[in-house]
Amino acid sequence: MKGLILSGGKGTRLRPITHTAAKQLVPVANKPILFYAIEAMVEAGIRDIGIIVGDTHLEVREAVGDGSAWGARVAYIQQEAPLGLAHAVKIAEDFMAGDDFVMYLGDNLIRGGLQPFVRQFDEDKPDAMILLAHVANPRQFGVAELGEDGRVVRLEEKPPEPRSDLALVGVYLFTRRIFDAVHAIKPSPRGELEITDAIQYLIDHQHRVMPHVIKGWWKDTGKLSDMLEANRIMLDDLETSIEGRLEGTSQVQGRVAIAPGAVLVDTVVRGPAVIGPGARLEQTFVGPYTSIGPDVAITGSEIEHSIVLAGSRITNLEGRITDSLLGKDVEICRSDRTPRAHRLMIGDHGRVELP
Ligand code: TTP
Repeated sequence: MKGLILSGGKGTRLRPITHTAAKQLVPVANKPILFYAIEAMVEAGIRDIGIIVGDTHLEVREAVGDGSAWGARVAYIQQEAPLGLAHAVKIAEDFMAGDDFVMYLGDNLIRGGLQPFVRQFDEDKPDAMILLAHVANPRQFGVAELGEDGRVVRLEEKPPEPRSDLALVGVYLFTRRIFDAVHAIKPSPRGELEITDAIQYLIDHQHRVMPHVIKGWWKDTGKLSDMLEANRIMLDDLETSIEGRLEGTSQVQGRVAIAPGAVLVDTVVRGPAVIGPGARLEQTFVGPYTSIGPDVAITGSEIEHSIVLAGSRITNLEGRITDSLLGKDVEICRSDRTPRAHRLMIGDHGRVELP
């Protein structure tokens, strides 16, 4: 079995971060979301992985390399534009060379891994298998309807009147039959080749599409609030490890990981929280559910429930930063210049909330 991870797309919902960076490389608990997908595949015994890339391909290639860091072999498949999930499948046909494959949306996070899903596929041998989860608000998802024999009989995208509460999670298992479907379907009104249409094609042509319902947590990380939730969930699994240096009155409380090369001076970190390599925190409070990236410098400030990417600097702020995502090399500081005013330089689609 092979793997296909989708790491192209536009990432419009996570602008401005995605103006300059791939959405799938935004870190959660200091690890790019995409790496969780690769780890899940390898853990399920999948070592040949194709990654669909778009405009941000250089950055993805640089971060993942040839996959040997995970004991996997990674090939890149360039998509000329985000023409839909089924289009991504279509251009992966040569790479799959007739093998079954797991398709994983590179911005999704699933706690609990892929093994039960892959095992059920191996036992049942359906033509396709889709991963589903019970949700409270099915109107916002792709929704599956199951027949009496347990098969999937219909898929609907964001239905006004959902026929079940089973939402499509961003992981699918396909046999080569999916290629007949992606060649046969036409683009949807939004101009994309839809994976739901391709799966519906299999169902309509009497192929057996089976569900696998997960009970654990999963998230399609499109927006800021999703990133913060994913960060919380992943930090809940954190194990304490203090490899950096604590100086002066510094203290860590609860589950905290401090990477080698990080230095804390007169600083309190209350976990769960992770501090990246080379970070320097002075007279600072880092509260629960915070991920501080590599080489971040924070002085005289307080921050909690936030994600700070590499190289950012926060200096002498009065209020506490919370519920925030700071991009790379962002700078926030207090200044005594007159007039006392907010001085901002913020990129397109940036957002600042002041008390
Ligand atoms: P989406 O979240 O549906 O799309 P997007 O990345 O364009 O994001 P946004 O809605 O914020 O603009 O995509 C799901 C995943 O699949 C994501 O990792 C991007 C990837 N993808 C591709 O690789 N190729 C495609 O053609 C599409 C539509 C998505």
